[in-house]
Amino acid sequence: MSDSKVYSPGSEFAKNAQIQGMSAYREIQEHAASDPAKFWAELASRELTWFEPFHQPLDWQPPFAKWFVGGKINACYNCVDRHLLAGRADKPALIWEGEPGDERVITYRELHRLVSRFATVLQNLGYKTGDRAVIYMPMVPELPIAMLACARLGIIHSVVFGGFSAEALRARIEDLDASIVITADGGWRRGKEVRLKPAVDTALHDLLGVKHVIVYRRTGSATELKDGRDFWWHDLERHLDDHASVAQAAEHCEAKDLDSEHPLYVLYTSGTTGKPKGILHTTAGYLLQTLMTMKWVFDLRDEDIFWCTADIGWVTGHSYIVYGPLAAGATVVMYEGAPDYPDFGRFWQIVEKRKVSIFYTSPTAIRALIRQGDRWPEAHDLSSLRLLGSVGEPINPAAWEWYHNVIGKQRCPIVDTWWQTETGSIMIAPAPGAVPLKPGSATLPLPGILADIVDSKGEPVGNNREGYLIVRHPWPSMVRNVWGDPKRFVEQYWSRVPGSYFTGDAARRDDDGYFWVLGRVDDVMNVSGHRLSTMEIESALVHHPAVAEAAVVGKPHEITGQAVCAFVTLKQGDWSREKLGDELRQWVGREIGAFARPEEIRFTDGLPKTRSGKIMRRLLREIVTTHAVTGDVTTLEDLTVIAKLSAQHDEE
Ligand code: WT7
Repeated sequence: MSDSKVYSPGSEFAKNAQIQGMSAYREIQEHAASDPAKFWAELASRELTWFEPFHQPLDWQPPFAKWFVGGKINACYNCVDRHLLAGRADKPALIWEGEPGDERVITYRELHRLVSRFATVLQNLGYKTGDRAVIYMPMVPELPIAMLACARLGIIHSVVFGGFSAEALRARIEDLDASIVITADGGWRRGKEVRLKPAVDTALHDLLGVKHVIVYRRTGSATELKDGRDFWWHDLERHLDDHASVAQAAEHCEAKDLDSEHPLYVLYTSGTTGKPKGILHTTAGYLLQTLMTMKWVFDLRDEDIFWCTADIGWVTGHSYIVYGPLAAGATVVMYEGAPDYPDFGRFWQIVEKRKVSIFYTSPTAIRALIRQGDRWPEAHDLSSLRLLGSVGEPINPAAWEWYHNVIGKQRCPIVDTWWQTETGSIMIAPAPGAVPLKPGSATLPLPGILADIVDSKGEPVGNNREGYLIVRHPWPSMVRNVWGDPKRFVEQYWSRVPGSYFTGDAARRDDDGYFWVLGRVDDVMNVSGHRLSTMEIESALVHHPAVAEAAVVGKPHEITGQAVCAFVTLKQGDWSREKLGDELRQWVGREIGAFARPEEIRFTDGLPKTRSGKIMRRLLREIVTTHAVTGDVTTLEDLTVIAKLSAQHDEE
């Protein structure tokens, strides 16, 4: 792969880039690697606004890291208030577009006012530093406003993606022991209302810990409020205005002095067991690295219009719609709805209308748009674009070429960014004015990130060999813990290669030192750039009364990268397989969320197992990938199972 096509930074781009040329970049890299903690500490002092300076860069008691020890800081202050003093008060912070076509432009001054007022509302309801708030909202400005208001007061927020079901929402509220839920009546997607409040009601049924539900009115559809528990967002804000003195004080709700390591948020992600893990991110380190990657990877300038198309319910939205760009004082575009509504030109229409200069999306979105043909992008003026980004999975060369030619008109570098919910911000990606690009490679680890590729004994594998991707030294935005489960944190990430962080990805490095990420090595699938756990879907399936056993694997899919394929054995009974297939898909939708529904359900009489009874998903993966099994089957208990499964496929 090292002899793949190489794109040197375009002269037009490189001329103005903040990091220019490979030799300057190598210097930064070497300086950073010689003492990463010192390197990050210098940046932290310079780039963040502190209430009190820290006295120690890093306290590393593996695997527990504390960055910028002793410092006092506030993430909301850094994302909002400080820009008012830096001459950005009238600069748009958020340019929002609703799916139906409504729009709002919110300046930093206005954002400060809205966040302060909502923080006052939370404070008046009695919420304080350390409390947990679950946020379950559509992509409206009130979502980042709620997050920032929590951060202002030190309330730990946990955003639950609006596509999750009531069941999944409930599990997260319970795990966090949250006392407040912030939601909306619904949101718009593909011209239809996605209702949210009814799911909250189902989730909270007989759950006593939640004292308040705040409901933002987005769609205006009929919504029931439970007396004493539920309040309209606008009613609570209106109460502030009942007294002039309260209203005035609310405009300046003070940002709390918080410890560098104060928990900023918990975001749940799928792991290798049935239960999602609550990834804990803290304040100063997270903020620093999201901010620095805005500069290094996106080459951000004050005049840029930055659009990340992710949903804030995923980490990409946390880091590159909210905290990173706002900490940098950028103008952020935020879009509520689907890319194909009202037609497949929506993204390009927004780019043209808003003069987007940096556009960050996923390979799955690119592939879906390629399929619709070039006429959609060609109908719009995309000349404002200067940089393109990709995240979520390796970008296949065909998608890369299209993105580069049809969207970027060969002028815009493409930054392929490798990172994870756990890493908090981008880890491996090019500095676009310095690093030549190779389609399909995220290129080099960023300054201060000591990534490596090792074998099962933890020994470096050398060039052009496949191995496990690990990170050797702590980095500022790293996951600090799994909420309520430190044992899982240690076992999952820090036990495979002692002292190093285990990513769960396989990778290879070429002769130029470029990293090629190959995919997960565990039972985690990547569907449309979203992480799904095989075990989580299996345990949802076996809850169904008809299902005896289930095994889930990812099967290759042209658009979504992988699709969920479930092998299911049934209990004794008179089941109609045809009806049951649909029913089970709906069932998974109810237990987890519609995005987790299996694309395919295959009923079978038996599953391949080892003699100790473990399901051999590896064989099932082979069946759905290559339609045959060539791998080692010596540990298989019943060889006829494979013959039957393969034969079954041939009949289809
Ligand atoms: C997994 C993390 C934070 C990004 C959104 C997904 C895969 C992500 C790339 C990339 C190759 C990638 C990895 C990783 N992945 N970006 N540029 N090249 N693989 O976050 O849900 O935490 O998933 O996504 O497998 O481990 P996530």
